[in-house]
Amino acid sequence: MQSKVSDRGRGLATQRPSFLAVLSDQWSPSSNPNGIVNLGLAENTLMHTEMVEYINSHGDFWNPARLLEVEFGEIDPFSMAAIQQYERALTEAKNRGLRINALVLCSPHNPLGSLGRCYPEDVLKEYLKFCSRNELHLISDEIYALSVWDNPRLPDAPGFKSILSINLEGIIDPSLVHTLWGLSKDFGATGLRIGCLVRGEDTNQRSPISLYNIPSSLADQVTTSLLLDDSFMTKYIAINRTRLANSYHFATKLLRSHGIPYFECNAAFFIWINLGAVVKDATADDILVRLRKERIYIAAGEHYAAEETGWFRLVFSHPLNVLEEGLKRIIKSIQ
Ligand SMILES: Cc1ncc(COP(=O)(O)O)c(C=O)c1O
Repeated sequence: MQSKVSDRGRGLATQRPSFLAVLSDQWSPSSNPNGIVNLGLAENTLMHTEMVEYINSHGDFWNPARLLEVEFGEIDPFSMAAIQQYERALTEAKNRGLRINALVLCSPHNPLGSLGRCYPEDVLKEYLKFCSRNELHLISDEIYALSVWDNPRLPDAPGFKSILSINLEGIIDPSLVHTLWGLSKDFGATGLRIGCLVRGEDTNQRSPISLYNIPSSLADQVTTSLLLDDSFMTKYIAINRTRLANSYHFATKLLRSHGIPYFECNAAFFIWINLGAVVKDATADDILVRLRKERIYIAAGEHYAAEETGWFRLVFSHPLNVLEEGLKRIIKSIQ
């Protein structure tokens, strides 16, 4: 049979780096005594045992299990009363011998057990004061900053206020305040891998944080051109808000007409829906099985630190035909 590989491909195959053969046949006195002894790779294997031991015993090194969750119960997380909850959680943590370094705020809120809304300015200031008196860093993740829309059912909901726009003088040492933003959400461009961390003390400086972690020049150029293009940005943000609002209203109208409770919001991409309230006596796992059977995927609230079971996270930032199909399947699964 004639080979389907081109002449060029076959030519390159003969030039396969010999090093790959070394890697696939490395000597080991017990499992591969006839393998190749590799004394060519610039690697220090003398300390592997210690490093493996360390990594294994610190397996949760980067694990968000190291986050201390704060429960709110009936307390509105956007209210001043929420700060008391943090105060209480901090005291309890100290009593348990834990050292808390930072408070992470998703602003606008992304559903970690709750809601796509924006924090009022006075509450943000209270969070800053809380961090200041307890010498905590405040990390404000503002990745949904531009994905805020009008919800007539929430006429008094505050719009987005960036920590960067608050005058920190007399409130907190600016070196304790850090703001994150990136293109992933507001520009639907997760693949570009562009984001930034702005520290309160150097808002006028922009520099990469690592020589080896700089973005590709293509992504860099697209981002620079985008952020400098005022007319495109203005148009894009306005259209994005209109589309988010349309999709949100379409989805919530359907939810209401089928009696599915949800939490009204005006920011980010999620609707927090309570399927547990509709499917009586079913666990979250039972509901997930039903959803899977109808070939629809939404995430259970448990993944997002929901305080109450039965809640699910529905991502509504899709065209209406996609939402219609998805919601039809969700509704079928709970009937
Ligand atoms: C609140 C928040 N911050 C940051 C990210 C990280 O986004 P990425 O790594 O795609 O830039 C996410 C992604 O889901 C998010 O929800």
